[in-house]
Amino acid sequence: MTGGKRILLVEDDRTLAQLLMHQLEELGYTVFCAYSWHDAEQAITSKDPTITIFDMRLPDVDGFEVLPVLTEQSPVIVLTAYGSIDNAVRAMKAGAVEYLTKPVSPEQLELAVQRALESASLRRNYQFYRQRAEVDIGGLMIGKSKALKEVFKLIELVAPADNTVLIQGDSGVGKELVAQAIHQTSRRAGQNMVPVDCCTLQENLFESELFGHERGAFLGAERRKQGLIEVAEGGTLFLDEIGEIPAPLQAKLLRVIETGSFRRLGGTTDLTSDTRFITSTNRDLAQMVQEGSFRSDLYYRLAAFVITVPTLRERREDIPILAEHFLNSRDFARQVQKNLSREAIEELIGYHWPGNVRELRNVMERAILVSGPAPEIQPEHLGLAASARRHGRKVEFSFNHEPTLEEVKKAYFLKLFREYGGHRARIANVLGISERNTYRLIDRYGVSDSQR
Ligand SMILES: Nc1ncnc2c1ncn2[C@@H]1O[C@H](COP(=O)(O)OP(=O)(O)OP(=O)(O)O)[C@@H](O)[C@H]1O
Ligand SMILES: [Mg+2]
Repeated sequence: MTGGKRILLVEDDRTLAQLLMHQLEELGYTVFCAYSWHDAEQAITSKDPTITIFDMRLPDVDGFEVLPVLTEQSPVIVLTAYGSIDNAVRAMKAGAVEYLTKPVSPEQLELAVQRALESASLRRNYQFYRQRAEVDIGGLMIGKSKALKEVFKLIELVAPADNTVLIQGDSGVGKELVAQAIHQTSRRAGQNMVPVDCCTLQENLFESELFGHERGAFLGAERRKQGLIEVAEGGTLFLDEIGEIPAPLQAKLLRVIETGSFRRLGGTTDLTSDTRFITSTNRDLAQMVQEGSFRSDLYYRLAAFVITVPTLRERREDIPILAEHFLNSRDFARQVQKNLSREAIEELIGYHWPGNVRELRNVMERAILVSGPAPEIQPEHLGLAASARRHGRKVEFSFNHEPTLEEVKKAYFLKLFREYGGHRARIANVLGISERNTYRLIDRYGVSDSQR
């Protein structure tokens, strides 16, 4: 069966693209062509390709720079010109699973595609396995502060019930972890928890992502697609950053939460869903209601059970335990057993942690590397003074009117983009978002490299 396999072909040479597309279609695959990186980015989000064939030399981008974005989404076969085997090797090191040199023979193409598809299915299994493995970890959340114990109590209380939960808290405090803990201690634990990041979905795709669509519901809807609500059937749908959900969808969401029924886009019949909704936000939803950007009826429905996760500086006793935990975490490959010096612990406890647990995790990850073979982590390995400077930085904008939040966001993004010469990874780092989301913002704000 090749029918369900979607191949994204990113190749600026249209003649070659057509030829390859034809060959792949003959083999029974569904192929989408993108002739530039710009097109490719859109196709990644809208088509969700199973694998990608990628010409490293594109007019609008450096192939090596964007390769990580592609490999994160799906296995990648790179296409390189004859004679540039070095580049092929570099691309494989950067995460590509196969390479093809031009001219491409049909046999090579078929073989490479088959292998990449195998990678794709392995990857899915691995993700599944990892999800399952986490279920077995007893203490999903580390901490012994009173404030966090309060959160544990609420999780225990609400987990067995089926009601909607709103998890509030600053960025990086562990909201998603709380959602996982609820799901895993609920009767739905054997089913999926499907996370949906409401920030990253494009407005026009949101509805079809969530509710699915019928064939022909809109241009490009070539076949019926299940929405995430259906994927989460029997399990939990985790709507992350619910404050970002567009207004027209708020009403539809309320309806499915209240009645359990919804319609696919372009559908004429109601479907019913048995899905639990857990939502999270780091915004002040109550204030958004007052400002009129969030529906009050949906808010009251969601806020029926609220868990507020405290910031790290409100529970400083958890800092050493978490630091130790990250130091000994198997995720960070280490050769040496390491400890924290007293001074390092003191510095960790005294710091204000604007990025909360996520920042602590990053600091420890970095400290492990920076300290090299030293068995004990010292304050200078933590690099906290430097990051405090960064957080204390003065940023100024001027507008000729009172700016909206969105305008300030855009202005700040453009400023960073210029300051960092369009370097995605560094911008992502400063903003505390993924590189992929940085690409999305570049798209949203219409920034081009010429604005560097
Ligand atoms: N109590 C905890 N014990 C262990 N790890 C934690 C704890 N709290 C948070 N973490 C870790 O910190 C990181 C950030 O947590 P998480 O993604 O849940 O935060 P969040 O509140 O959803 O952040 P954001 O608002 O940015 O989405 C993750 O790597 C998570 O595993
Ligand atoms: Mg989160």
